[in-house]
Amino acid sequence: AGLKQVVQVCKNGERMLVGDAMNDVAIMQSEDGNCGYSIVVDSDGNIHDIDTDKNINHKYNGTQFEKSIDGRGCCVIPGLVDAHTHPVWAGDRVHEFAMKLAGASYMEVHQAGGGIHYTVEHTRAASENELYQLLKQRLTSMVKCGTTLVECKSGYGLDTESELKMLRVINQAKKNKIIDISTTYCGAHAVPKGSTSEEMVNDIITNQLPKLKQEIDSGKLQVDNIDVFCEKGVFNAQQTRKILEEGVKMGLMINFHGDELSDSGSAKLGAELKAQAISHLEEISDEGIKEMSKSHSVAVILPTTAYILRLKAPPVRKMIKAGVPVALGSDFNPNAYCMSMPVVMHLACVNFHMTMAEALTASTINAAAALGMSDTHGSLEVGKKANFVIIDAPRWEHLVYQFGCHDDVIKAVVLGGDII
Ligand code: NIG
Ligand code: FE
Repeated sequence: AGLKQVVQVCKNGERMLVGDAMNDVAIMQSEDGNCGYSIVVDSDGNIHDIDTDKNINHKYNGTQFEKSIDGRGCCVIPGLVDAHTHPVWAGDRVHEFAMKLAGASYMEVHQAGGGIHYTVEHTRAASENELYQLLKQRLTSMVKCGTTLVECKSGYGLDTESELKMLRVINQAKKNKIIDISTTYCGAHAVPKGSTSEEMVNDIITNQLPKLKQEIDSGKLQVDNIDVFCEKGVFNAQQTRKILEEGVKMGLMINFHGDELSDSGSAKLGAELKAQAISHLEEISDEGIKEMSKSHSVAVILPTTAYILRLKAPPVRKMIKAGVPVALGSDFNPNAYCMSMPVVMHLACVNFHMTMAEALTASTINAAAALGMSDTHGSLEVGKKANFVIIDAPRWEHLVYQFGCHDDVIKAVVLGGDII
């Protein structure tokens, strides 16, 4: 109760916003200091009502609420959605950060046996419980930064057993309701040492995916998306297509890495395969932009990666102008060690010239759309999951403006009605 601004994001129940509409964030604003807005949450953890305090008091007169938050002078936005992370891994790569600062490129480190290979070694060696504890800590930090739904990838196992181990760890976090999760199988994240890309594609098609299907069909695992690192020196477009098509046959949504370090035709491929989302896209071609705007595949932009690797900025303004739905993700991984979506939004605004409203749209409804979950997540609407962030400031934009430390600006995060 007492909220000064209720930032609903979608005005008319849209399930993604494109073009100018990304700026058209719907806000209920209280002019009168004494009467603000209230949100009522039901016992299933969904939004039951949003209205002025006066109307709510009238409608629910006599109702005993289990708990309440004093939101006087605060703003509320939908829970943030992080559309791309690699949060399950052991070891860290702080030494590689030093190498990259000294001039080594991402691919040089990778081809010298570091990068993803280094993390694979440590993740394979870690027990399921160790990985779970690490994941739990990271997801808890994300929630503190305002994230309530996150996409989590496997991809540091690269063999059947280790990939399944990672997916089980993600499923466990979901079951324990640390945060809402969309799960992605990313077995084709790299070509394992001593193997060729062709051998790896073969292993994925003949061993990993059939085993994954068995686990899914028997109810042991729940997986939503399939991912491939489509990049020069990793998997080419033809190999990527083969793996993604196999995933679709199993009912998975396509959500893959493409056009990051070079234009490998990923955007075009993704559009043709009706990908739910394609990530990175620093090197997307004009043709790729055109195809994505037609297919309505969501472009998941990752400002931390471009920042840390000093990559060229993805053409975000061009994409928005062309009508490509743009979303944001933290890409949290041992290369880009950032768990905060407000920092990601800040970087997107400063480095990629997005407005704060566009960054919010990209981190809520459009990020939920990238995961095929915008029916239930990504905006403050009656019937949707009661995931929101209460901001202790007179305008919601303070969340983006004040960057790096969120302790003062985030008053509370509400996850399915639970106050965190
Ligand atoms: O999205 N580009 C490929 N995958 C990750 C990096 C993973 C890693 O370096 O460990 C990314 O940036
Ligand atoms: Fe990634």
